[in-house]
Amino acid sequence: MQEIVVLRWGHRPQRDARLTTHVALTARALGASGFLLSDTVDKKLEETVEKVTANWGGKFFFEMGTTWKSSVRDWKAKGGIVVHLTVYGENMQASPVLYRIRQSGKNVLVIVGSQKVPKEFFSDGVSDFNVAVGNQPHSECAALAVFLDRFFEGKELAKGFQKAKIKVVPQERGKKTIVEC
Ligand SMILES: C[S@@+](CC[C@H](N)C(=O)[O-])C[C@H]1O[C@@H](n2cnc3c(N)ncnc32)[C@H](O)[C@@H]1O
Repeated sequence: MQEIVVLRWGHRPQRDARLTTHVALTARALGASGFLLSDTVDKKLEETVEKVTANWGGKFFFEMGTTWKSSVRDWKAKGGIVVHLTVYGENMQASPVLYRIRQSGKNVLVIVGSQKVPKEFFSDGVSDFNVAVGNQPHSECAALAVFLDRFFEGKELAKGFQKAKIKVVPQERGKKTIVEC
């Protein structure tokens, strides 16, 4: 089973805190194994994500402060491939790019930007695939969600999260949870 880790580049703590939190929580909820906040440190963000994981279960790691260059280098050295989500990439609906990523059988580091990304991200020294979730600009959170959902074919939505302290009991109406102390 191929694993996915998400690298968020360009986070500005004052400006992007909420959106980056959403990107990390989307990564966790939709099947990624971990999250790398590259080139910067944001303790508050780390706390939020780790608290969610502690309460809602599952295995999900959060790391920050490492440069994107060394993360990409280490990832490739371990045999993984890199997918850069960008509006300029190969359209994941209109091309076989997702099939090619699956066919590689390798673990995937998915890079999402924030502000304008370094142009090296587009080069084959960094990204094995530049993937567009449609060729219209939208959001890193939306792009990541669609990519993960297509990659895992929706199965991630039904998976259980081990050692959860809080579990939702799905209801037709109202809100029901089981809370374990
Ligand atoms: C809001 S965009 C800003 C991009 C920035 N203005 C630039 O020119 O590079 C932030 C991130 O969302 C992701 N993104 C936005 N639209 C996308 C699309 N259609 N397909 C894939 N990723 C997309 C990319 O990862 C991008 O780096």
